[in-house]
Amino acid sequence: MPTVIVVGAQWGDEGKGKLVDVLTEKADIVARYQGGHNAGHTVVLNNEKYVLHLIPSGILHKKTVCIIGNGVVVEPAALLEEIQGLRKRGIKVEKNLLISRNAHLIMPYHIALDQAGEKMRGKKCIGTTGRGIGPTYVDKMARTGIRVGDLLNPDMFLEKVSANLKQINFLMKHLYGSRGFSARKICDGYLGYAKELGRHIADTDVIINDAAAAGKNLLLEGAQGTLLDIDHGTYPYVTSSSAIAGGACTGLGIGPTKIGRVLGVVKAYTTRVGSGPFPTELSDSIGEEIRRKGGEFGATTGRPRRCGWLDTVILKHSAMVNGLTGLAITKLDILDGLDTIKICTGYKYRGKLYSHFLKELDAFDGCTPVYEEMKGWKESTLGVKEFRKLPKEARAYIRRIEELVGVKADVISTGRKRDELITLRKQF
Ligand code: GDP
Ligand code: IMO
Ligand code: MG
Repeated sequence: MPTVIVVGAQWGDEGKGKLVDVLTEKADIVARYQGGHNAGHTVVLNNEKYVLHLIPSGILHKKTVCIIGNGVVVEPAALLEEIQGLRKRGIKVEKNLLISRNAHLIMPYHIALDQAGEKMRGKKCIGTTGRGIGPTYVDKMARTGIRVGDLLNPDMFLEKVSANLKQINFLMKHLYGSRGFSARKICDGYLGYAKELGRHIADTDVIINDAAAAGKNLLLEGAQGTLLDIDHGTYPYVTSSSAIAGGACTGLGIGPTKIGRVLGVVKAYTTRVGSGPFPTELSDSIGEEIRRKGGEFGATTGRPRRCGWLDTVILKHSAMVNGLTGLAITKLDILDGLDTIKICTGYKYRGKLYSHFLKELDAFDGCTPVYEEMKGWKESTLGVKEFRKLPKEARAYIRRIEELVGVKADVISTGRKRDELITLRKQF
């Protein structure tokens, strides 16, 4: 079945943007299923860098329809800025971008609550992107959320915002000691955005299912990564949505029987932004070197990413909860030149060895990784397009990852550009 989910297998920033852009060549529709503008997906085309936050990474292909699904949370000003930024660079963003009527809106008070909550947590903060993601999903589940479709009904919009502000303003004043919000001001701003966004709003579930029924190629793009998933990640140091492959079904309204493949994007090492446990984190010069060489700074917030060795235990967990059918291993070139490469194959906690993901946060936080050492390679892998042309040590590294995770590598990425890629198995 020609429906492929692209999902982050670690803590985000695995290179999903590049993979989605490459695979879009064969896709009729690319649809984002969760998250918001906390995401930063980078695509490099003709030596120019594009960072997509809300718009699917397929947008650089003119003929593909891009969909922002119901599972995504949308900050309209950020979306408009992204649309305008792309248009200025000559990228077509017209009817080829559709937004689900049911996607929830990030409101100004969500952003304020996110930032105030983080401040109050102090040292125990999650290190969110401060974009209002968590509070927006809270309102969605509390059934007090405001949706993209509400932008088309000004009276109802004002009514809903006013009702919400009764509680929110009380909290802002009495808990956080800050000023409240005016419903009228919010409505004026948001209804202004509606004029621009209105023509993109659609019943995207029907469009997606009709396309699937017609045998079209669908590419479903995840944001964040499995370890940031609200249920299957390192809770509470996670994001507030279902980043795993299952989230594609709820976040777009497509049934699991329609999914053909699930491609897990895996960086050849591990990175994480924000707080939370990270057993293989390197605080030495190798970690520093990987950060420098890999340009490991957040695409959204610019924060330095924490870097460490590849952890195949979390990847096994990822393979399981996503039902991965293949791996896309990215940034192999960043490991060029290392004498030794370490792979985490298990954890030691309180004298005991574990070969599976430790779900208790204290154990995961307090464990020491067990490593297997592999010989590095001195040759450059940048831009290599055939597996057999990789240095033998690099081939051995890939084969060992496949063995430990129990999933084959379908794709290996050897650079930022579209053609810096080895395809071992086609997705469509
Ligand atoms: P995403 O959030 O998963 O889309 O990933 P990001 O865009 O946040 O971070 C991945 C970064 O790595 C971007 O700067 C990409 O341009 C870059 N990148 C992706 N694949 C490769 C690769 O194979 N080699 C190198 N050197 N860079 C890559
Ligand atoms: P992409 O799609 C990496 C992290 C934040 C923080 C936690 C919660 O580019 O891979 P949030 O603002 O979502 O409430 O923050 O999640 N985070 C990401 N880390 N890549 C991302 O997206 C992320 N989106 C959120 O740093 O630790
Ligand atoms: Mg990113």
